[in-house]
Amino acid sequence: MLSIVVATGENGEIGCKGTMPWHVPEDLQHFKEVTMGKTMLMGRKTFASLPGVLPGRMHIVATQDDSFQKQHKRVKIIHDLSSWLVQAQMLEEEVCVIGGGQIYRQALPYVNRIYLTRIHQSFPLADTFFPQVDWKKWSIEQISPLRISKEQNIPYEFITYRRGNE
Ligand SMILES: NC(=O)c1ccc[n+]([C@@H]2O[C@H](COP(=O)([O-])OP(=O)(O)OC[C@H]3O[C@@H](n4cnc5c(N)ncnc54)[C@H](OP(=O)(O)O)[C@@H]3O)[C@@H](O)[C@H]2O)c1
Repeated sequence: MLSIVVATGENGEIGCKGTMPWHVPEDLQHFKEVTMGKTMLMGRKTFASLPGVLPGRMHIVATQDDSFQKQHKRVKIIHDLSSWLVQAQMLEEEVCVIGGGQIYRQALPYVNRIYLTRIHQSFPLADTFFPQVDWKKWSIEQISPLRISKEQNIPYEFITYRRGNE
């Protein structure tokens, strides 16, 4: 089963110049809790934006570059993204798609759950966006209270959606 883990600004913003447009440590902690112990799929650019190989999680990195290599026991490089998505969708275990924009766009049709952090602020300099979602086809599984991030006073909430509206 495939799930997306993403944080978006008010206009679907997810990235700016290769990094996140905001600093919300509470979301990083949430990301850690959701993904810990699981396999994560990401694009090569998102992999480059990480501080390193994250502990306790398997990293699947999509690239079209045949020469791209990373020698690490928790990193696997894939080139055939669509075949990989078809197979991961059928697994019983939850695999987390963690971005960025290109990978979310291609993975969305295969995904059954979205862990969304809604950041209630706009970021006009953003250059990467989450794809359009027809939210009528999704229902809310879990929602947190609206909270304010301590460091930059940014309001945010955590919402878990599952595909289907019954
Ligand atoms: N807000 C959030 O929750 C969140 C989460 C993750 C990332 N981000 C942000 O999103 C931005 C990065 O997103 P992005 O869209 O620019 O890049 P990305 O999706 O992370 O990576 C794009 C790369 O993935 C590879 N790729 C894409 N489609 C592929 C396919 N069909 N088969 C094989 N490889 C494929 C290509 O690598 P090659 O060029 O090597 O071929 C491509 O350049 C950053 O700013 C990051 O901070 C935000």
